[in-house]
Amino acid sequence: MTMSRRQALSLLGLGAALVAAPGCSLIPGRAAQPRLLTSTAALPGPFTVPLPIPKVAEPIRPGHYEFEQRETRMEILTGLSTPVWTYGGQFPGPTVRARSGEATTVRVINRLGVPTVLHLHGGHTPPEHDGFPTDLVQPGTARDYRFPLRQRAATLWYHDHRMDRTGLQVWRGLAGFFLVEDAEEAALPLPEGDRDIPLMICDRSFAEDGSMPYPAHPDRMGVLEAYMGGVLGDVILVNGAPWPELKVAGARYRLRLLNASNARAYELSLSNNARIVQIGSDGGLLTAPRPVDKIRLAPSERADVVVDFSGHRPGDHIELRNLAGEGRQAQIMRFTVDRDEPDDSRVPATLSRIERLDPRQAAVTREFRFTSGKTHHGTGWLINGKPFDPNRIDARPRLGDIEIWRISSDVTHPFHLHLVPFQVLSMGGEPVTATPEWKDTVEVRDNQVVEIITRFTGYRGRYVLHCHNLEHEDMVMMATFEVV
Ligand code: C2O
Ligand code: CU
Ligand code: CU
Repeated sequence: MTMSRRQALSLLGLGAALVAAPGCSLIPGRAAQPRLLTSTAALPGPFTVPLPIPKVAEPIRPGHYEFEQRETRMEILTGLSTPVWTYGGQFPGPTVRARSGEATTVRVINRLGVPTVLHLHGGHTPPEHDGFPTDLVQPGTARDYRFPLRQRAATLWYHDHRMDRTGLQVWRGLAGFFLVEDAEEAALPLPEGDRDIPLMICDRSFAEDGSMPYPAHPDRMGVLEAYMGGVLGDVILVNGAPWPELKVAGARYRLRLLNASNARAYELSLSNNARIVQIGSDGGLLTAPRPVDKIRLAPSERADVVVDFSGHRPGDHIELRNLAGEGRQAQIMRFTVDRDEPDDSRVPATLSRIERLDPRQAAVTREFRFTSGKTHHGTGWLINGKPFDPNRIDARPRLGDIEIWRISSDVTHPFHLHLVPFQVLSMGGEPVTATPEWKDTVEVRDNQVVEIITRFTGYRGRYVLHCHNLEHEDMVMMATFEVV
């Protein structure tokens, strides 16, 4: 690729306007890419521990949950004790099962000794309850987050969102599932009960003493420069257990896949080449089932899938693999068929209806350039050339308006929008013609342009959009929008 004079000047730090050209990161070489933090602990072999299923949260009264945030110790690697930060003493946090349209309150009691912020990822939430990064729950205090949940059934998740420290605090363990259910979905004959399984996939690294080190910057917020491309772990955890095994019946299962990693993307596939039938995305059910042989998930993306183990006999193993990983990071978990079970579930040909948003109705098209560049601390990750400033409003969509957003990247950035889900119009110049689906995160690959369309509904106020590579986010790749 040839460089213009201005780009060359920018790379030398001489350009007056430091605008990184697409495909051209200002951050030299390897630091622009996510970087592996190597464990010094002895790592277990694969498929030696059972898959944990996070406990379903018990309301203290209907629609009210109370999560005490506290540090605890867990035996994640056999024989070692790992300090983790938890909601309610468990990692992943308790799974909330809530009904669409029924307001749900989560009270957070912060006993962690550091400020926290709770965000319901994928929630259609009023601004004061959305977990704005500077809206802190101070140590020793409590806060009620109220979620009206006027939204369709979907696999959501909650996680920490503290300004400049999200990467660290999620790495420590602050994440859990939040499942919204509705009558439309409940009426479908999909697998349910103990054949509806949330799988939170994330990577971590472990020191010899069992702790999960994180390369936090010692003098200021954020991550060490060498890791500002993102922190990768070398241990793949599913629901908090390393490379676990789940014993299954020879029947259909609904798996709710979530990539809760800081910076790692996965390409998930099954070892027997069995079809994976995708039924849902970030924002709930697809219109029709989509058979696929692999699913790519960038950080924070979800896919609900149905896998049919009925062709297998007791004793058969089926591995869930990561085609985007090498060595041990190419392994995720294993299913072992150990019994027969009657199964009257099926995947109907029609799942739901989704209105396709019409680009001709868009009130405005906005541009968001995701690149590296200079900040007052040195180099960081910027949106439209600017570091995050919670006091600056970067876009003011009007309530009810449809808008098109054009997002461009230098290196790969998983773009995430708060408040409303969107539909992807085009990727890399190619129109997306598949049946419409609702997303809240889309991966903008190296030097790519992705166009999305959304309608700003529900609430006026101030929200964020950001990169969901958590190290990029903490290194200021975030912007605000205010619905007016
Ligand atoms: Cu999953 Cu703004 O976050
Ligand atoms: Cu979010
Ligand atoms: Cu990014």
